[in-house]
Amino acid sequence: MNNDLILRVRDLHKSFAGIIAANNINLDVANGEIIGIIGANGAGKTVFVNMVTGYLKPTSGLIEFDGDEITGINPRDITRTGACRSFQISQVFMTMTVLENLLVAVSLARQDLKSLLKPLYSDERINECEQIMRRYNLTEHRDKITNTLSQGVRKLLDIAMAVVSKPKLLLLDEPTSGVSSEEKFDLMDLVVNALKEQGTTVLFVEHDMEVVRRYVDRILAFYQGEIICDAPPDVALNDSKVIEYVLGESRKSTYENEQTVRAGYA
Ligand SMILES: Nc1ncnc2c1ncn2[C@@H]1O[C@H](COP(=O)(O)OP(=O)(O)OP(=O)(O)O)[C@@H](O)[C@H]1O
Ligand SMILES: [Mg+2]
Repeated sequence: MNNDLILRVRDLHKSFAGIIAANNINLDVANGEIIGIIGANGAGKTVFVNMVTGYLKPTSGLIEFDGDEITGINPRDITRTGACRSFQISQVFMTMTVLENLLVAVSLARQDLKSLLKPLYSDERINECEQIMRRYNLTEHRDKITNTLSQGVRKLLDIAMAVVSKPKLLLLDEPTSGVSSEEKFDLMDLVVNALKEQGTTVLFVEHDMEVVRRYVDRILAFYQGEIICDAPPDVALNDSKVIEYVLGESRKSTYENEQTVRAGYA
């Protein structure tokens, strides 16, 4: 495998009783790339992220991460190799503070039993969390209970928790979903800059094309489980198939998302 490649996917398929959720997916991702995954609802974006991170086993095909085959390996072992993720729905502990959430994430990232036996509130771990809070602008929220925070800050915490182990590859499933348009760009500026600084390769699922255009080197457009376009943003966002099968639906999703935020549900 070429050393510059961090992820290599060949002929990946996934079907669920009659539904083909991934069909013949082939992909090479170079170290350090920032990639946007777009596609209408049900196009297969989350299924793809789930297969790469071990949450779903492919029906057939091959996934290599950093030179090793990881097809069908369980999520914990994949995380240990340096491929981490966040979920479409935030995984933060809502009744705990920001610091407490990060302490849990830092302890779990150690992934050895001896480490889990140590008290969570050690100076070493608190220092580590404070560094992360500074990097992700979370310091002012340190002792706030997570359910009192805006959706944007909660998402930021969720992502900060996913990167405590400094992964080589990070997959983010809709990092800005439910986040108001005012907060979206600040959130992504912080996240993308922090990840670029530490050299993490990023694939993120996104419905807002303004966000995609601003941050990515390359777009993967999904439709009915297939990648129908793999190109830089200027090419992909002007591609006739992407316009027909993705952008119409995405505009609708973004609009619905913003209506939900305005209605105060998020
Ligand atoms: N566990 C499952 N069992 C059965 N079908 C599933 C399962 N997970 C996903 N699917 C189906 O696979 C297809 C792709 O779903 P997926 O969740 O990947 O869509 P998506 O592109 O992430 O959509 P969204 O933008 O709404 O999140 C859909 O038809 C979905 O119903
Ligand atoms: Mg999804």
